[in-house]
Amino acid sequence: MLTIEKIVNRDITIGVVGLGYVGLPTALRFFESGFRVFGIDTNSRVVSQINEGVNPIGDMEYNDKIPPPIDNNWNITSSFSDSVGFCDVVIVTVPTPVSPEKHLDETNVFEAGKSVFQNITAGNGTIVVLESTVYPGFTKKIWSPLVKNIGLKIGKDVHLAYCPERFNPGDKESTISNTTRIVGSMTEEVGGLLVELYSSISEAEVIHVGSMEVAESSKLIENVQRDINIALVNELSMILPSLGIDIEDVMEAASTKWNFHRYYPGIGVGGHCIPVDPYFLIDQATEKNSSVQLISTARMINDQMPTHVADLIIEILDFHNIVVADSSILLLGWSYKPNIGDIRGSPSSDLARVLLDGGISISTWDPHVPKHDFPDFVNIIAGEDQIEDFDMVVVATAHDTFQKIDWQVISSKMRNKIIFDGRRCLDLEKLNNQGWSIYALGKPNI
Ligand SMILES: NC(=O)c1ccc[n+]([C@@H]2O[C@H](COP(=O)([O-])OP(=O)(O)OC[C@H]3O[C@@H](n4cnc5c(N)ncnc54)[C@H](O)[C@@H]3O)[C@@H](O)[C@H]2O)c1
Repeated sequence: MLTIEKIVNRDITIGVVGLGYVGLPTALRFFESGFRVFGIDTNSRVVSQINEGVNPIGDMEYNDKIPPPIDNNWNITSSFSDSVGFCDVVIVTVPTPVSPEKHLDETNVFEAGKSVFQNITAGNGTIVVLESTVYPGFTKKIWSPLVKNIGLKIGKDVHLAYCPERFNPGDKESTISNTTRIVGSMTEEVGGLLVELYSSISEAEVIHVGSMEVAESSKLIENVQRDINIALVNELSMILPSLGIDIEDVMEAASTKWNFHRYYPGIGVGGHCIPVDPYFLIDQATEKNSSVQLISTARMINDQMPTHVADLIIEILDFHNIVVADSSILLLGWSYKPNIGDIRGSPSSDLARVLLDGGISISTWDPHVPKHDFPDFVNIIAGEDQIEDFDMVVVATAHDTFQKIDWQVISSKMRNKIIFDGRRCLDLEKLNNQGWSIYALGKPNI
């Protein structure tokens, strides 16, 4: 039976199911903190890469941090039967995507739960924590019947809990060890044990917020709020230039007020969370006949950004008398957020497709994305020295690398010296002084 004393003495074993952007850092953090860890993933490539010391995810932070497989405290496997039985706590961090119809695809959580519960022995009292993002009530609804069908008893053989993952992969400021956590559980006792457990891998506060439903809802609305705030700034990036005003001047001015939160406009919202999670709540609300106008509109605004940016780019080419169908554009950045190689739902891909439909040749450079992750429809360049003969450079992702580019040198190699900052991350004045024609999202352009 798990106790506070055992956690403090590191006398317990933690299982982490799903070794992706969330699961791998989680497993590593427990290992570094002195726990015995089993990492379980159904993808054999992920398992063999980790066992060879190779980082399988696009977050370079972990490139040199994978321990050798000889360590007894570090066990990576695709076998649930060789691992779950040893674990006191099993943390599940599998993907929760939406279907093409925008409904939560429950398969991964269902399958992972089934494989875990089938390998728990009656009487063990294993705590199984879901960290994947889901809608309120989901954990209990999906997992309770599985536990019961196997003949185990919730509260005795198995305890269920929910702890949303909040850290931000690729972001050195908001890491797994310094981000405040919340935990929801079916009993106070399990909540207390999980507060102690997660506190041992984090300097930040860990709070038991009560039920799993409160914790599930909290995670969802954190992402919904972000989607809405981004949609607002994206909408402003369309309105303000038409009034002759640069959104960045306005955001700078408004940020001087104590309760104003600054956001940046962008070519679109990508990733596995923000463009996905709001649909979970939209679905739940629709089922209960509640209104979800604001949340749905925000999704629509953010989804249309790649098309809006493509229209701006074509307008700029026309303005410079460049034949659109003969033009060649370089997209800087293919991943969906800065300094990470995660391409899931990346708006660069949507933007490229719209531009390709206009007959424009599209190339891209992203130092964080492995070559095999790019689609066939774009040309890939491998570095700054290959930026030549383009009509326009478009900053699609605000990677730090792009801030360090010597734009003066590049300008002499361009067919046309046009730059479009789709993330408002460049020093436009400096570029202008270097002879570039500068354009940016939210700036009166033509
Ligand atoms: N990536 C983020 O920035 C982030 C942040 C907070 C929360 N989340 C949430 O965390 C969850 C995981 O996201 P991620 O980005 O780590 O996903 P990911 O795709 O990077 O990794 C998931 C891993 O789970 C494995 N997997 C899938 N089904 C499995 C199963 N049945 N058993 C064992 N392994 C299985 C996959 O092979 C993959 O390696 C999602 O619900 C996501 O919304 C993600």
